[in-house]
Amino acid sequence: MDYQTLMLKLALITALISAASCAYTADDYVRPKPRQVLHFPWPSHHSSEPQQVHVSLAGENHMRVSWITDDSFAPSIVEYGTSPGQYTSRAQGESTSYSYIFYSSGKIHHTVIGPLDHSTVYFYRCGGEGPEFHLRTPPAQLPVTFAVAGDLGQTGWTKSTLDHIDQCKYDIHLLPGDLSYADYIQRKWDTFGELVQPLASARAWMVTEGNHEKESIPFLKDGFQSYNARWKMPFEESGSTSNLYYSFEVAGVHVLMLGSYTDYDEYSDQYSWLKADLAKVDRERTPWLLALFHVPWYNSNTAHQGEGEGMMAAMEPLLHAAGVDIVLTGHVHAYERSTRVYNGKSDPCGAVHITIGDGGNNEGLARRYKNPQPEWSAFREASFGHGELRILNSTHAYWSWHRNDDDEPVRSDAVWITSLASSGCLREKAHESRKILMEP
Ligand SMILES: [Fe+2]
Repeated sequence: MDYQTLMLKLALITALISAASCAYTADDYVRPKPRQVLHFPWPSHHSSEPQQVHVSLAGENHMRVSWITDDSFAPSIVEYGTSPGQYTSRAQGESTSYSYIFYSSGKIHHTVIGPLDHSTVYFYRCGGEGPEFHLRTPPAQLPVTFAVAGDLGQTGWTKSTLDHIDQCKYDIHLLPGDLSYADYIQRKWDTFGELVQPLASARAWMVTEGNHEKESIPFLKDGFQSYNARWKMPFEESGSTSNLYYSFEVAGVHVLMLGSYTDYDEYSDQYSWLKADLAKVDRERTPWLLALFHVPWYNSNTAHQGEGEGMMAAMEPLLHAAGVDIVLTGHVHAYERSTRVYNGKSDPCGAVHITIGDGGNNEGLARRYKNPQPEWSAFREASFGHGELRILNSTHAYWSWHRNDDDEPVRSDAVWITSLASSGCLREKAHESRKILMEP
């Protein structure tokens, strides 16, 4: 083959490859079929063996290790250190349990460890026995990467989403509600804990509640008893009185974890706490401000249309005045990204709203959209997948959405986002912000 023919063939192959990778649009994508709910055989472990291990951030330089034992006498201790098998530190925690009709939970342990170094792998053991786990603490400074997937459930697609997240280099998992889809069947909370343990024992999982966490337990007024008992988040550490809303800071990012299913009006405890929390945000220390909650405010899918309106009316002015950069939500089983938007219209000083309730649950996808597509809707597609938010520095972040294309995580939407802190918007909002945050 002469040189010219070789070059021609190479050019043709390159053109074919780029056509194959660029020609995908939401319209011509053929979605794979739904996948079955995963089957979990009854586990055979001895009663004090730690199960369903997961970790979360718990205030500055600390993390909370949570696990469950069948044995109600198993101690709530965590031994840990930076070398395998050599535990130089030990922390004592607390425990809880709950009952639901004929179900009694195991002993649910929560133990805070620290102070911990940043960007460091720690090896740890729960309850003084059982296997060794390891976790990596988040960095002290930007860059930081968040993996994001909501409405996970426990199907073959959930497994696919988790496998793809596992391939990503990330620091923290953000979950905007609807974890296990237990829906009253308590054993599903246990199987979900087992399903996510490989990932959730290794990186902090920061979650907020969805409608599938809510259950009416006879004679108990708190409809989130199972969720609150199992997925304790740092609400006390952030001055909140409820596990249903809290905030945390990591590497230059302040993250608000709000509750769509608890009171949010201006006389509510959540609203008062949010105002006080926002007043403490220092954009020199945390130039990025994120918010997560379950029910989207900007949603052009026909599913769950208008459900977020009440919370939006109460809280959007507050989030806008504070200069929230990105809002991540779930609930709608599809993906949608907005432009920067406020009060129903594109606004360069508003937040980017991203609905990512497409983790893989058994209810399937929400395929129908309102037409025409609203001007604020930049990208929408009903497929399962996950998101990755890499915040590089005080000015730039890269958001990408990865569709579960059969078993490959195909990047299907990506955008650079510049921070409001770097845009002059915060200076413009200073007066509005002072007024709304400081007024009694
Ligand atoms: Fe939901």
